[in-house]
Amino acid sequence: MPCVLTTCCVGTVSKMFVQSLVSPLRPVGHSPRIACSPPPLWQGRLLADCVQFGNAMGSGPQIVIPRQARVFASSAIHSITELALRHGAVNLGQGTPDDEHPQRLRDELAASAQADRSRYTAIQGMPALRQALADNFNRELNPALPYQPDDIMVTQGATEAFFIAINSTVGPDDEVVTTDPYYGLYTGSLQMAFGGDDKIERQLKPFPLKLEPLTEGDYAGQPHFVFDMEAFANTLTEKTKAVVLFNPHNPTGAVLNASQLKRMGQILDDWELDHPGQHIMVIADETYRHILFDGRPHVSVAAEPSLQKRLIYINTLAKTFNTTGYRIGSLALPPTPPGAGRDVQDAKAEWMRNLKGLKNVTSMCSPEPIQAMAVVALNQMATPDYYQSLHERYGARRRKMLDHLSRSPFAGHYAVPDGGYFVMVDIGPTLDRLRPEVKTQYQINDADSFVRNFLIPQIKVAAIPGNGLFRDQQQGGRYIRLSFCQNDDTIEAAFRNLEALSTYLTPAA
Ligand SMILES: Cc1ncc(COP(=O)(O)O)c(C=O)c1O
Repeated sequence: MPCVLTTCCVGTVSKMFVQSLVSPLRPVGHSPRIACSPPPLWQGRLLADCVQFGNAMGSGPQIVIPRQARVFASSAIHSITELALRHGAVNLGQGTPDDEHPQRLRDELAASAQADRSRYTAIQGMPALRQALADNFNRELNPALPYQPDDIMVTQGATEAFFIAINSTVGPDDEVVTTDPYYGLYTGSLQMAFGGDDKIERQLKPFPLKLEPLTEGDYAGQPHFVFDMEAFANTLTEKTKAVVLFNPHNPTGAVLNASQLKRMGQILDDWELDHPGQHIMVIADETYRHILFDGRPHVSVAAEPSLQKRLIYINTLAKTFNTTGYRIGSLALPPTPPGAGRDVQDAKAEWMRNLKGLKNVTSMCSPEPIQAMAVVALNQMATPDYYQSLHERYGARRRKMLDHLSRSPFAGHYAVPDGGYFVMVDIGPTLDRLRPEVKTQYQINDADSFVRNFLIPQIKVAAIPGNGLFRDQQQGGRYIRLSFCQNDDTIEAAFRNLEALSTYLTPAA
């Protein structure tokens, strides 16, 4: 198979090449290292130790391979998708809705192409899109202190926004606090910010979410994940430079409420009072902010003043408008308070100049027709009716998924999500019930081996193993994440396939 990696632009190619060739970090020794016992996926360090560098290939064409190729966290999500395709498994792993992209937006894209909108735009993004984003944030996040278009940069999805945010904030000796589990696809950007893959273990400080029974609604009494503010407070150190939050949370579906946000702001303010000179940024990813359940309101991290003043806000259109492949998102700096002096405005302008420097390196600008499409999405489609249709669609799929789970071998061992479109299933009891010969035949000892060796190839259902999502590998090894963003047919097909699971289990106690 040809070995070609497509990228979004030459800037990205050069970034990837230079980073992989000339990094002074974690140089690989001269003698080839081929010992290959897999470290936890979480660290994503497999590749470098397995590659033989710089071998001459005899006569004929030759190839030179760098000795210092750096290793970035590989995504369990993408490798699971590849495995699912190879085995024809129904994919409940990756969170890509299989509904159609809205016709209104397809028309806009076609019109942009016909109008030959094919040029570089401003690095920071088209003014019309930054205005549309500011208007959208000011309607939906926190009307009290409005965002201005100059606070906002358009990015290639939340992924590039996070890369830029974290790399402009965090240096080699800093620590970052986030949740355990967390959205593992951001690990590569964190490695880059810390300047080495081996630093993740020491400098990324996760605080666990806790499981509590729901107190109201259709699922009252069943467990859901909640943010634990005391655990958060205990994770801060004198080296903490940034806190990374997901609200709603991927993978657990936990949602921050107003009192938790207030408490978090208080904790950070108090910490800074006790540690003069230390300033802690918050980077909040609210990718799923329009997908909440049981009438729960979305309270943005930006709505809490003591968080908003230190907030880099990450936004994407991917999940709200079904545009995961169009790569369109943004980041926003804290809005300028009324009456702020010239010094504040100059400092913010300088900050944005630096971010533009980073964006220039990664992709230079986001594609013009996609930006034009995003203006239409935000100005014409982002209405209460549209959001209501999202709630209904995903609410129905969540119900379907939870109904099926309650009749499956996983019954009683999953957490009800309050937002987002994933369910975390504790497969510990199922692993205990797998017949010993099945465990031996498929070499199953944790969630990762269960999914890769058995669930995908044998049962024909793909899920994301918790190993790549949790720092705590005891927990990670017993959870899988199932997505319910897929349409009804896909969810039904997955649970039809899952019926076969019972035949591999000993009877329930
Ligand atoms: C929490 C979270 N952030 C970011 C992303 C990726 O967003 P984008 O496609 O806009 O880069 C995802 C995708 O699943 C996600 O779950």
